[in-house]
Amino acid sequence: MRILETDDYGSMSRKAAWIIFSQVTLKPDSVLGLATGSSPIGTYEELVRLFSSGDLDFSKVKTVNLDEYKGLGPEDPQSYRYFMNYNLFSKININQDSINIPRGEDPDASRECLRYDRVIESLGGIDLQLLGIGRNGHIGFNEPGDSFPKSTHCTALTESTIEANKRFFERVQDVPRFAYTMGIGSIMGAKSIVMVASGKAKADIVKKAFAGPITPMVPASVLQLHPCFTLVGDKEALSQL
Ligand code: GLP
Repeated sequence: MRILETDDYGSMSRKAAWIIFSQVTLKPDSVLGLATGSSPIGTYEELVRLFSSGDLDFSKVKTVNLDEYKGLGPEDPQSYRYFMNYNLFSKININQDSINIPRGEDPDASRECLRYDRVIESLGGIDLQLLGIGRNGHIGFNEPGDSFPKSTHCTALTESTIEANKRFFERVQDVPRFAYTMGIGSIMGAKSIVMVASGKAKADIVKKAFAGPITPMVPASVLQLHPCFTLVGDKEALSQL
């Protein structure tokens, strides 16, 4: 595990983007695993900047997103598909056919989860996976539990996650209770993984995940076992490590 400490959110975001920049420069047809949440927004801004200055080309890149709320279609402003279009895809030269996100609008969970695993498989796995961390240690929407789920599954969001994510919705009742998420097996199968963590609110869980025991009760702790995992965190997020 490599830990890169930065002064603040801005420098964290640039550093994470530069790692992705190196990946795509060295392998223009990279498969990037992408994440949502507030943590990677700055990373996407820096990637857009690198693209706009002509230094980064996404024309051969393929992407697989971690997760999507069950019941939300791509046109829903709260969907992760919408988030990704708004923050990244609409601002770079990625081919629309190269974008993959679980189809939240498919009510048939087993069909959609199987389809998504086949997508990941058909791409030959993930070259670089970008992650944030939930306040309870979730990655993607792999919530704390008794085991590390291997493949894409439909998960019931915990109260802590609903509480944390309600800021994006008008009312807490509007937060979907279920989501489709890539499994821990697919995440751990990525050739390299970069996590961004920022702010005091993440300090406690960052400590539990990376200085504590490996346990499915803290899903991110499994990343300690990955051969090429980099945590890019600002001073506040790393303050308890
Ligand atoms: C959501 C996403 C996660 C993300 C987490 C943290 O639950 N499913 O992928 O890591 O939020 O979000 P934030 O970066 O806003 O704290």
